[in-house]
Amino acid sequence: MQLAGKVAIVTGAAQGIGAAVARAYAAEGARVALVDLAADRAEAVAAAMRADGAEAVGIGCDVAHRDDVDAMVAATVQRFGQVDILVNNAGITRPAMLHKMTDAQWDSVLAVHVTGSFHCLQAVAPGMMERNYGRVINVTSAAGLVGTIGQINYSTAKAAIVGFTMSAARELAKSGIVVNAVAPGAATPMTDTIRTDPRFRDKYLERIPVGRWAEPQEIAPVFVFLASAGAAFVTGQVIAADGGMTIR
Ligand SMILES: NC(=O)c1ccc[n+]([C@@H]2O[C@H](COP(=O)([O-])OP(=O)(O)OC[C@H]3O[C@@H](n4cnc5c(N)ncnc54)[C@H](O)[C@@H]3O)[C@@H](O)[C@H]2O)c1
Repeated sequence: MQLAGKVAIVTGAAQGIGAAVARAYAAEGARVALVDLAADRAEAVAAAMRADGAEAVGIGCDVAHRDDVDAMVAATVQRFGQVDILVNNAGITRPAMLHKMTDAQWDSVLAVHVTGSFHCLQAVAPGMMERNYGRVINVTSAAGLVGTIGQINYSTAKAAIVGFTMSAARELAKSGIVVNAVAPGAATPMTDTIRTDPRFRDKYLERIPVGRWAEPQEIAPVFVFLASAGAAFVTGQVIAADGGMTIR
C-alpha cells in the first residue's frame, strides 16, 4: 500500500494508460479522481473501480480550459480533501506532414498537452506547497525525445513537456514536490494505427529492442514509483518505459 492516504488526480483516465494508472494507484491505497473529456467513460471506469472496493470518482474536464481545470480540482478537494499526486496524462494526436498541418491541428495538440499540463499543475501546486508534499508525473513520448515524422505538433508538445518538467522540478524542489515525466510505449487506442496499419507496423516494431508494445498495465508501475514516498530524491527526470525505443 505505497499510496495509502494519498489523493491522486489522473487526467485522460477514461481509457489507455490513464485508466491503468488510476487502477494501479487505487490498488496501492490512493483515492483517485479520474479526469477526462469523456466524463461518462471516466465515471464508468471509476464505478468499476468502486465495485472492486476503491475510492474513485470520474470528473468531466477539458484540461485545455482553465475554468474547467479549476472546477475539477475544487471538486476533487471537496470530495477527498486534498491533492497529493497529479498525473498529466491527457493527450490527443492530430497527425499531418509539416506542409499539410493546419493551425487547428497545431493549436489543439499544444493546448491539450502543454497548456493542459500547465493549468493542472498551477491549480494543484499551492495546496501541495502548503502541505510540503507533492508528486507530479507528466507524460512525454519518444516523439518528444528523438522526433518523429508526420506529427511535428505532437513531437513539439512532448518536447515542451520535458522542459516543463525540468523547470517545475527546480521551482518546486524545496517544497517537498518532485516532478518527473514518463515516456511510455503502450498498446492503447492512441497507438492503434501505428501498431496495426501495415504501412507503419513493422517499421515501428523494428525500433523497439524488446520487440513488442507493452500493455498499459506494464507501464503503470513506473507511475506508482514516481508517485510514492520512495521517489523523494528523484526529480526533473524522464523515465522511458518504451521497450528501449529511445536508447541513445
Ligand atoms: N500509448 C503510447 O504508446 C504513448 C506513447 C507516448 C506517449 N503517450 C502519451 O500517454 C498519454 C496517454 O496516452 P494513451 O495512449 O493512453 O491515449 P488514449 O488516447 O488511449 O487516452 C487519452 C485520454 O485522454 C483524454 N483526453 C483527450 N483530450 C483531453 C482533454 N482536453 N482533457 C481531458 N482529457 C482529454 C481522452 O478522452 C482519452 O481518454 C498521452 O499523453 C500520450 O500522448 C502514449
